[in-house]
Amino acid sequence: MLRFDPDGRRYLDGMAGLFCVNVGYGRREIVDAVAAQMAQLAYYPLTQSHGPAARLAARMAGLLPRGLGRVFFSNSGSEAVETALKMARQCARRMHPGENRYKVIARHRGYHGFTMGALSATGQSPRRAAFEPLVPGFMHVPPPDHYRCSFCSSQPSCTLTCADEIERVIRMEGTETVAAVIAEPVIGGGGVFPAPDGYLERVRAICDRYGVLLIIDEVITGFGRTGKLFGFEHSGIQPDILTFAKGLTSAYLPLGATVATERIFEAFQAEDGEAKFAQVSTFGGHPSSCAAGLANLEILTRERLWENSAAVGAYLFEKLRALRSPWIGDIRGAGLLVGMEIVTDANKTPLPEARMVQLQREMREAGVLVGRNNDSVPGYCNVLILSPPLTLNREQADTLVGAIEGGLARL
Ligand SMILES: Cc1ncc(COP(=O)(O)O)c(C=O)c1O
Repeated sequence: MLRFDPDGRRYLDGMAGLFCVNVGYGRREIVDAVAAQMAQLAYYPLTQSHGPAARLAARMAGLLPRGLGRVFFSNSGSEAVETALKMARQCARRMHPGENRYKVIARHRGYHGFTMGALSATGQSPRRAAFEPLVPGFMHVPPPDHYRCSFCSSQPSCTLTCADEIERVIRMEGTETVAAVIAEPVIGGGGVFPAPDGYLERVRAICDRYGVLLIIDEVITGFGRTGKLFGFEHSGIQPDILTFAKGLTSAYLPLGATVATERIFEAFQAEDGEAKFAQVSTFGGHPSSCAAGLANLEILTRERLWENSAAVGAYLFEKLRALRSPWIGDIRGAGLLVGMEIVTDANKTPLPEARMVQLQREMREAGVLVGRNNDSVPGYCNVLILSPPLTLNREQADTLVGAIEGGLARL
């Protein structure tokens, strides 16, 4: 939980690094598991297989709903998404012979990674601008942002019109051209937008109606962040493809994973029975990373950290919502993933970026590290983000709230 700077100053890490050190810092058993793995088998490629990868894949399948258990390992969240997009394109063509299904629908403000495909799915124009034109065939619909929604912010709750936009785009583009929809259960780095009640169910129904695959990007939300083991479990849906990274190893070593259903796996099987998804990664699913993943999941499940995320997260939300400050426009999130919109007036004018940076600096001076959405929408870099390790206790939650209250008071 604590980090130290070179002068020995202690900080409470309210961001778990970058939404990733889920089990917290200083977990000796992960270090020992990696050292033992390196001594036993430093490397072997996944063009063959090796024990740690097989064991980790089985462990993940055991935690996921039945039928979601075909795992492809890579090195990062971006690669996990890249893999998912490639799988979706190839699989959609196999499932719909004669059609050319390649388009992918994503949401504005969503983040999916820095590689060209994942960046093309990312709905954050400032991150894309320097590299355009990106990969063809990606389109974006509005996110579920009830606070600023042009469809329903005047209504008491979300009308799911933003979900229906996906159907409109599929029909406008031509059903036979759309391969997949990709969505985070809670948009994270883009400003923390949880899927409202019924949203993922509506998206799932639309995908089913048009034979479109649903990719759920769990890179931030996976492994306890939102108060359940997986973010999609807040809904009743089953995704077709899932992507993981960060919390899979709690960032002790790099590892990404893409998980597909049995139905998708079967679509890749050729006449000779062999599954053909031709993609090679030298380091993907490295034995040491898989050993870190196994030790990490052992801690996560032994300590049932998603339950702590739900309980302390609820406490944190209660304390934050009790703050009386004219700067707080909206508070939203799930579990230990919190976004606070900081505004300057009743018209929801976002606090300018330079002052957001100043606010973060104030909190750092108070010994607390908090995050902020960055480069996601021009002019709207005004969401403070909390995503601490899932081991956070109530006293530490109080420290976070105290630092935020103090920072806002000095604005
Ligand atoms: C939802 C989501 N998907 C994908 C990624 C990309 O992961 P990485 O930075 O490991 O490439 C991120 C990174 O923050 C993310 O938040």
